[in-house]
Amino acid sequence: MSGQRVCVSDFEEEARKVLPKAVYDYYRSGADEQISLADNVSAFNRWCLVPRVLRDVSTVDLSVSVLGQKLSMPLCVSATAMQRMAHPEGETATARACQSVGTGMMLSSWATSTVEEVMSAMTVSGSSRGVLWLQLYIYKDRDLTLSLVRRAEEVGYQAIFVTVDTPYLGKRRDDMRNRFKLPPHLSMSNFSTASLAFSEGNYGNDSGLAVYVAKAIDPSLCWDDITWLKKHTRLPVIVKGIMNGEDALQAVNYGVDGIMVSNHGARQLDGVPATIDVLEEVVRAAQGRCDVYMDGGVRRGTDVLKALALGAKAVFIGRPVLWALACQGEKGVTELLQILKQELQLAMALSGCRSISEVSRSLVRRVELTFRM
Ligand code: FNR
Ligand code: LAC
Repeated sequence: MSGQRVCVSDFEEEARKVLPKAVYDYYRSGADEQISLADNVSAFNRWCLVPRVLRDVSTVDLSVSVLGQKLSMPLCVSATAMQRMAHPEGETATARACQSVGTGMMLSSWATSTVEEVMSAMTVSGSSRGVLWLQLYIYKDRDLTLSLVRRAEEVGYQAIFVTVDTPYLGKRRDDMRNRFKLPPHLSMSNFSTASLAFSEGNYGNDSGLAVYVAKAIDPSLCWDDITWLKKHTRLPVIVKGIMNGEDALQAVNYGVDGIMVSNHGARQLDGVPATIDVLEEVVRAAQGRCDVYMDGGVRRGTDVLKALALGAKAVFIGRPVLWALACQGEKGVTELLQILKQELQLAMALSGCRSISEVSRSLVRRVELTFRM
């Protein structure tokens, strides 16, 4: 029996001990020198909270409305591929945990469970089901891409997060060294042919996933494809992977329903800013014309609070969910989300915020830390 888990890093430490090396490496890795990987996390320390006091914080309401759905907190789960490598129940366990905590889950196109399976893992209570969004990779084959969108629409997914930062997969050295591919009993379940399901194929001495992406994913994607996608779905479309105010302005001009500030967990281009450091630029550029979300390096309740103060409507986590799945499946993810929720609640109370609408820009200040070597 492991010790009590009290924060996100406790989950990672435990997960590292139980996961096969190649799986842990795939989940953990960032691109190249992993400078941005570390910075995504540490950048939160360059922002400090400036609390208010004497505001009766005996009750704190964390609830928020995201994409038309009421959630118990502004912290949701981002898409991470191939979750059954972490736990036999994979994405279905994550979905149930999100539902029990009352938050939303973004399902990866590259899940090891089908969109239908994940939706039906969530129970229906009254007329409400859990909140599920589809993360979409746009394939060279547009019919294939749209068939995934159709399936998600049919079973009740509520939005599409289209990933725009992956024309090719970033260079992840450990995955190359490990020649990363899925274990033989798993596949990207949404696809029926073996080559599309990443379940067989000759990937040479490379990261199998990098080879898969180069073969299947469309690197010619451009803004007109956002128009194309919007034309073919009635669901809200959020662009995931915006890091630049000019792109944010472009996105709102193309009529997106949301912008997600993300550097893909620092797995694509290394040497990019931490997401928390570009959030405000994107929020400004969006001019309130759509909601802005963010992910990358969020590990503590105070991180969530800082992102909200800088203008995010909601904040997402990637890797922590994989660690929690590896520790204890659905129970682990539920525990993780509850820990983060409690941390956020405490951070709000200690900052004098009784509700999310009271979290304002004046709550955070940028600090320039001086390090002595
Ligand atoms: C990802 N991410 C990702 N993004 C996406 O759009 N589709 C995907 O299938 C995946 N898969 C994926 C797998 C793994 C193992 C990781 C770590 C990440 C990126 C993910 O959605 C998110 O942007 C980051 O994980 C957020 O950063 P943190 O919370 O992991 O620091
Ligand atoms: C990754 C892909 C799946 O980051 O998005 O590994």
